[in-house]
Amino acid sequence: MKSLWTPITIGRLQLSHRLVMSPLTRARACEDGTPGELAAEYYSQRASLGLLISEGTQPSADGQGFPNSPGIYTDAHVAGWSKVSAAVHARGGHLFIQLMHAGRMSHPSNTPHGRQAVAPSAIVPDSKIYTKSGIVDVPEPRALSREEIRTTVNDFRHAAAQAITAGADGVEIHAANGYLIQQFFSPNSNQREDQYGGPVENRIRFALEVVDAVVAEVGADRVGIRISPGSSLGDIAEGSEYPALYRQLVLELAKRKLAYLHIAHNGNDELLADLRKLWTGALLVNRVNRPLEDIACDIDAGLADAVPVGRWALANPDFVKRLQEGHALNDADPSTFYGEGAKGYTDYPAFEKA
Ligand SMILES: Cc1cc2nc3c(=O)[nH]c(=O)nc-3n(C[C@H](O)[C@H](O)[C@H](O)COP(=O)(O)O)c2cc1C
Repeated sequence: MKSLWTPITIGRLQLSHRLVMSPLTRARACEDGTPGELAAEYYSQRASLGLLISEGTQPSADGQGFPNSPGIYTDAHVAGWSKVSAAVHARGGHLFIQLMHAGRMSHPSNTPHGRQAVAPSAIVPDSKIYTKSGIVDVPEPRALSREEIRTTVNDFRHAAAQAITAGADGVEIHAANGYLIQQFFSPNSNQREDQYGGPVENRIRFALEVVDAVVAEVGADRVGIRISPGSSLGDIAEGSEYPALYRQLVLELAKRKLAYLHIAHNGNDELLADLRKLWTGALLVNRVNRPLEDIACDIDAGLADAVPVGRWALANPDFVKRLQEGHALNDADPSTFYGEGAKGYTDYPAFEKA
């Protein structure tokens, strides 16, 4: 694991090791989307991870998918996130806020305005969603008009500006896991007949417009993007041509010199190797369920520069120290992943010598 403990530059940040905290939705924000009372403590406990990518955070009311996810579009949100960034900085960490627009993976009762969800096309995913009245089928979304696409791009731009005002070091654009941006990529969720649907260059257009707007607002070295090529989350079926789409997308992203590209890797190793060649900047690769002893494999193989960790970071506030010193890890408790309070949030213990 030696390669983990070498320094790396990501955008404006000089980091002393190659671990990163992966984005983790925790559903503990206040009703209005302001980060909850314990958020500053939760993130600052994990500051030794260096770069912390926040939980998915909606850039607008339309963008909210789940109850109690945070937002970054009102002044109250900025005030809440300011406490988080200050606490993380005080302990030597850095914060990128993940901008997540859920698109069709939402429900009117999960949003502050109670409106029908928006998507590239009015296609219902074969998916369930958590609401405060239980788990229900995802309802039919409505298709965004071209004017609304422009507004949505602007919402991302505004949210990025708000994140920086709140003291964040940057933003990560969430283009993965079946949410709005990936819904534009995939032919089974995007059947538009305008310049946002059809051929690959049209299906990546919305993503690039979001990237360009956010970069114009905060600077490329404060912007990362997360993709999940081939993922089926949110009833996404990208079809056989998806490697071509991601090659084209990454080729375009590479011209924009973002702080980093973050891949949630779904097992297409040939594509990962291709994307690595196309992307000359910092590459973060998160592989689900890899064994601990393989944590540095992608770095050692030259396929990644840094490794985001999700559940290990969630359950071990001092994950870096535990790994460096070879201590056992706390197990993550899925029953407290989402919901209220300190239990399973800020009460995972740091390692103590017996
Ligand atoms: C409780 C939980 C919440 C998550 N929330 C997000 C999220 O908000 N945004 C995102 O991009 N990925 C999210 N993920 C995916 C993680 O970032 C990560 O890719 C996944 O957990 C696999 O990495 P791991 O094996 O290190 O946990 C979440 C995962 C979990 C377990």
